[in-house]
Amino acid sequence: MPALNRVVGPSFFLLLVALVAWPLAVSAQDQRIEDELNDLSPVVIPLKEALGDLIFNEAINSGEYEYTGNLKCRLCHRDFFKGRKRDPHVHTFKKSIKKKYYNEARCLACHTTGYGVKTGFTSVKKTPKLVNVQCEGCHGPGSKHIKNVHGGGFLAGPDNPDIIKKMCHACHNSRWSKSFTDKNFEDVYDAYAAPEIELPVAMLYGQAMGTIH
Ligand code: HEC
Ligand code: HEC
Ligand code: HEC
Ligand code: HEC
Repeated sequence: MPALNRVVGPSFFLLLVALVAWPLAVSAQDQRIEDELNDLSPVVIPLKEALGDLIFNEAINSGEYEYTGNLKCRLCHRDFFKGRKRDPHVHTFKKSIKKKYYNEARCLACHTTGYGVKTGFTSVKKTPKLVNVQCEGCHGPGSKHIKNVHGGGFLAGPDNPDIIKKMCHACHNSRWSKSFTDKNFEDVYDAYAAPEIELPVAMLYGQAMGTIH
């Protein structure tokens, strides 16, 4: 009997592991992730894509635009921090990248702040304060604004809605595009002007039905 137990015990255990792990492995096998990792085209730099190479290079090389991180913004924009607690942008690194992909340039590009830009995110170790898509992930580096808060000073600020829209689309590209559709984009965009986001009902409905995520 003990000999049999030695065989049945472990194989039963293995069977259990397989039964539990298989569906998990299948559901976790996100085709988009695989496609992204196999993609040989250059890594997306959202700010560069939104501004175009020329303006991007000129702005960043001027040294006027540096990423500062959320802690600075929080000092004066508390309402946005209260209102955005549940915005997925704020949690996306921990949720989707931290465990397995924290070293993968192809993933950091859109799940951190300023990856690929001088003074932006480089690694969790060196730039822990720039994980997730923070304020500057949409608005661009904030150092110029902080020096003169009434002067705007953003490369993608509200005085430049076309550039912000290009920022959205640079990250929400055709591979990563489930969050909104062309039809409700304007409504989703407008929701981000307010400290507390209220997404359009159509989008929440789409999420509930599983047609958008
Ligand atoms: C010292 C306080 C202070 C800090 C720090 C600060 N802001 Fe502001 N910010 C303001 C004020 C005040 C305004 C409104 C300016 C006005 O209407 O004249 C403003 C306006 C803005 C605007 C709208 C700009 C426009 O063109 O209308 C954005 C976007 C913004 N802040 C984002 C940020 C981000 C991102 C950070 C962190 C990088 C940040 N702010 C840090 C005080 C601050
Ligand atoms: C730097 C990249 C980046 C930029 C810029 C960006 N997003 Fe996102 N967005 C993401 C990522 C990554 C997620 C997924 C977060 C998660 O669930 O882990 C996301 C999620 C969302 C969601 C999902 C919300 C939900 O409840 O499911 C909406 C809506 C959204 N983004 C709208 C926008 C809009 C509108 C803009 C432009 C104003 C924008 N995003 C700009 C990267 C970005
Ligand atoms: C071009 C920008 C971009 C790149 C590159 C990118 N992502 Fe994303 N990712 C997004 C956006 C935007 C969303 C949210 C919209 C959506 O669900 O399509 C998202 C959503 C996700 C989600 C789903 C979150 C959820 O539960 O809804 C996971 C997981 C994820 N990304 C992981 C990765 C990994 C891993 C990589 C690298 C292989 C990667 N992403 C590369 C932009 C990007
Ligand atoms: C997902 C992208 C995104 C993120 C992240 C984001 N914003 Fe914005 N922000 C926008 C959009 C879109 C607008 C509206 C621009 C317009 O008016 O066309 C906006 C507008 C603003 C304004 C002007 C509001 C007004 O009344 O005109 C301020 C201030 C601001 N954001 C601050 C912040 C701060 C602070 C953070 C970080 C907590 C932040 N934003 C994060 C997309 C974003």
